[in-house]
Order: sequence, then C-alpha cells, then structure tokens
Amino acid sequence: MTELKKRLAENAARIAEILPQYLATTDGDLSLLYESMRYSALAEGKRIRPFLVMEFCRMFGGRDEAALPFACAIECVHASSLIHDDMPCMDNDDLRRGKPTNHVVFGEDIALLAGDALITRGYEIAARNTEVSPEIALAATAMLLKNAGAYGMMGGQQIDLWGEKNKVDFPLLLKMHTKKTGALIRTSALLGGFAAGITTEDDPRMQDAALYAENIGLAFQVIDDILDATSDNITLGKPVHSDIKQEKTTFLSEMSIEDAFAYASEKTDAAIKAIEKYENNEILTELAKYLLNRKK
Ligand code: IPE
Ligand code: IPE
Ligand code: MG
Ligand code: MG
Ligand code: MG
Repeated sequence: MTELKKRLAENAARIAEILPQYLATTDGDLSLLYESMRYSALAEGKRIRPFLVMEFCRMFGGRDEAALPFACAIECVHASSLIHDDMPCMDNDDLRRGKPTNHVVFGEDIALLAGDALITRGYEIAARNTEVSPEIALAATAMLLKNAGAYGMMGGQQIDLWGEKNKVDFPLLLKMHTKKTGALIRTSALLGGFAAGITTEDDPRMQDAALYAENIGLAFQVIDDILDATSDNITLGKPVHSDIKQEKTTFLSEMSIEDAFAYASEKTDAAIKAIEKYENNEILTELAKYLLNRKK
C-alpha cells in the first residue's frame, strides 16, 4: 500500500470514529431526524474533504487535534449537500454511497430537514473548535459559511439547475464547477490552514492552499462528469448517466471525454505547482494525481 492509500484509510477510520459522536442524541423524540443525518453522513464516502483539512494542517506544521473538528464540520456540510442534491426537485437520484438515497429511505420531508440539520451542525462544530483561538474559530467558520452558501456551493447548484433548461457557455460552466464543487474543496484546504494557526486568508500560505484546491476542485468535478458517463452504479455507488437523464450541462456537453481529461490533467499539474515549494508536500502532491485517476 502506498503512503497515500495508508493515510486515506487512516483518515477515513478516524472520521468513522469521531463523526458519530457529533451526530448523537439522547432525545428519543428526535431520533428519526438524527438517524436520517447519520444515515447519510456516516455512509462510506471517500472523506476527501476531511483529508484535505488534516493534510493541509500537517503540511503547515499544525496539530491533528486542531484540525479534527474542522474535518468533521466540512464532512457534515458536504453530506448535507449530497442529500439535497439527490432529492427529486434537484437531481432525482435513488442511490448514494452504495445505498438508497436519504429521501428514498426517510421521505422528502425528513431528508430536507436532515440536510438542513447537518449543514447547521457542521457550522456549529467549526465554531466550537476550542483547539484553535476564538479569533481563528470565528474566521474559519465565517469562511465556511460563506463558501457553503449562495456565494459558493449553493450558488453553483443554482447555476447547475439553470443549466438543465438553458445553454451554459464555457465561462459559466467553469463558474458552476468552481462553485458547486470547488468551493467546499477550497474551504477544506483553508480550514487546514486555520487549524495550523494561520489567522487570515490573506496569508501567502493560504493563497497557495487556495490555488491548489481551486485546481483540484475543478478537476474533481470534471472527473465526476466523466465518471457519470463512463462508470457503473456498483463502482461509483451512485447512478451513472444521471447528468444525461436530467439534461445537465457538464464538461462533456462542451468537449470529448479525452479533452475533458486533458483539461483536468492540466489543472492537476497547476495544483501540484502551487504547493511545490513546501516541504512535506508529497501526500498532497500524490493526492492530486490520485484524484485525477480515481475510478469512484
Ligand atoms: C460527490 O462528492 C459530489 C461532488 C461534489 C462531485 P464525492 O465524490 O467526494 O462523494 P463522497 O463523499 O465520496 O461520497
Ligand atoms: C455535485 O454535483 C454538487 C454538489 C453535491 C454540491 P453532482 O450532482 O454532479 O454530484 P453527484 O454526481 O450527484 O455526486
Ligand atoms: Mg447535482
Ligand atoms: Mg447529483
Ligand atoms: Mg455528478
């Protein structure tokens, strides 16, 4: 096993151990909502966003303890986005992380609440990170809120929905990918920086982290578009050909699979370059390459 694979497995195991503690309740009246939240958040995802938090914190010399709450926070926000993304009013998908989607199991009403409850829980976990200074917890949480919301992920999702019925030109396609997927990936890298004690996004290290993450974030969604067209449900754990079915504009509406891969490859190289000057950059360098060639 390569060092990257080992670290990815260790990270996933750590999240599997800690995340349930944040999603527990002793109030029996609320057990259905919490069960629905846990159903999606604890299902087997790749945990790439928490991994970015942990590894950026490490590369910048921080402690794991400071990064772990931020890692759990971003995974809650991400899991929320998946629940809502799959709902009939959005992508109308019935499979996620190898299991029936949240609304299929719990109904649309509870799925809607579970998405809302997970995203707000994520913000709360970030704000309550006592392993960093109160100033850093505030700056990190504000950054997370901004990038999950209308400015970032949710804004990107709105463009995605608009693109079902309208022609999206290439600049708008880039904007859509950068926001709907890139924003939370960029946020993950910056949360790692905050966990390492960096106090502001203006710090040159944060700018390098952002540049790396913007590039892998864009590549990540391009590969997601390619896998939607070329993989199978079992490998992916979600339905393939969802984009065609929903008449989405994706990278493959603009270019061939080969050209889309070449584009993602260019972005991967740019990401690697953004962090080349840092010692201990090997894991994040390998991660960028791994995500380009991922099969799920
Ligand atoms: C899926 O994200 C949604 C996108 C932004 C493309 P992931 O591919 O990281 O999904 P999980 O977390 O591994 O399930
Ligand atoms: C993902 O876009 C965007 C978010 C979940 C925020 P997709 O709709 O392509 O993601 P998948 O393919 O369903 O995971
Ligand atoms: Mg979608
Ligand atoms: Mg979708
Ligand atoms: Mg997709």
